[in-house]
Amino acid sequence: MAELQEVQITEEKPLLPGQTPEAAKTHSVETPYGSVTFTVYGTPKPKRPAILTYHDVGLNYKSCFQPLFQFGDMQEIIQNFVRVHVDAPGMEEGAAVFPLGYQYPSLDQLADMIPCILQYLNFSTIIGVGVGAGAYILSRYALTGLTSSISEMILGHLFSQEELSGNSELIQKYRNIITHAPNLDNIELYWNSYNNRRDLNFERGGDITLKCPVMLVVGDQAPHEDAVVECNSKLDPTQTSFLKMADSGGQPQLTQPGKLTEAFKYFLQGMGYMASSCMTRLSRSRTASLTSAASIDGNRSRSRTLSQSSESGTLSSGPPGHTMEVSC
Ligand code: BEZ
Repeated sequence: MAELQEVQITEEKPLLPGQTPEAAKTHSVETPYGSVTFTVYGTPKPKRPAILTYHDVGLNYKSCFQPLFQFGDMQEIIQNFVRVHVDAPGMEEGAAVFPLGYQYPSLDQLADMIPCILQYLNFSTIIGVGVGAGAYILSRYALTGLTSSISEMILGHLFSQEELSGNSELIQKYRNIITHAPNLDNIELYWNSYNNRRDLNFERGGDITLKCPVMLVVGDQAPHEDAVVECNSKLDPTQTSFLKMADSGGQPQLTQPGKLTEAFKYFLQGMGYMASSCMTRLSRSRTASLTSAASIDGNRSRSRTLSQSSESGTLSSGPPGHTMEVSC
C-alpha cells in the first residue's frame, strides 16, 4: 500500500491583473518606551474599525503578513478596512542597530505603545491580527484597553459604566476636560505609571500594613469597589474607618461632597482634632454620646464601618447594632 506523505502546499493566488496593492504610508510616533513605526494601507472607512497587525519575533510586518494581505481572495475583505501594520521597535526595514546595553521594551510596554499609535491616527476601535509574540502583545493590549482611547480608558477608571452611559453633566464635563487636556501626553505618562504599579502587599496582622488611622471611602457603584473592599480587609480594623457610600459611583468627592465632609469630620474627631461644636447641629444632637467619647480620648480600639443609607440620606457609624446617624 502506498504510504501517505505530507506534502507542503503553498497556496498561490496573487493579486489579479488590475488589483494593485493600495498605497502605503509609514509613520513613527514617540511613546514613553521609545519610538514605534507602523505602516498604514488604505483609507479609514467611516464607522469601521481598523485592522491592526503585530508580527512575530524574527519577522517584520512585511515578512509576516504580506503573503496573507496580498492574497487574491483577501482583497474583498481588506478593501473594507484601513490596515495598520506595526513593526516592533528596531524591526522596521532599514532600522538602525540599537546601541549595546539598550533595554528593549517588555511585551507589556510594547502593548502600551498601541494606544499611542491609535491616538496618533485618531482611531478608536481595531480588529487585531497577531502572530506569536504579536498575538501576546495584542492580547495584553486587549486586557487593558480594548478599543478605547487613552481618555476613554481613564474615564473607565474614574467612573462606572453606568455613570458613563448615563452621560450626566458631570460625565460630560470630565470627558471634555480629559479629552481636550493640553497635557494629555503627560496624563498618559501618569496613567502608564499607574498601570505598572507594584502591589502594596498589605497583610492584616503582618509587618506590611498601615499603622496610622485610615479613612477608606468608596462608592458602592465605583468601578474598583471590590479592590477597596479587599484593601479594607487587609488593614488594621482598629485603625481603619471604612465608608461605602450608597448610590455613589467612582468619584464620591465630586458627587457627594456633603456626605464625605461629614464622614471626614468624624474621622478627624476620632483622632481628637475636631470639637463637637463643629458638627452639624442635627448630627451633634443625635450622636453626642458616641462621637464625644471618640473625640475625647481619641481611642480607636475597634474597627468602624461607616455605611450610608440611601433611603434616609444619613450616615451611620460603628459596629453593627451601634448606629451613628449624621445629617447631610
Ligand atoms: C495590506 O494591504 O494591508 C498589506 C500590503 C502589503 C503588505 C502587508 C499588508
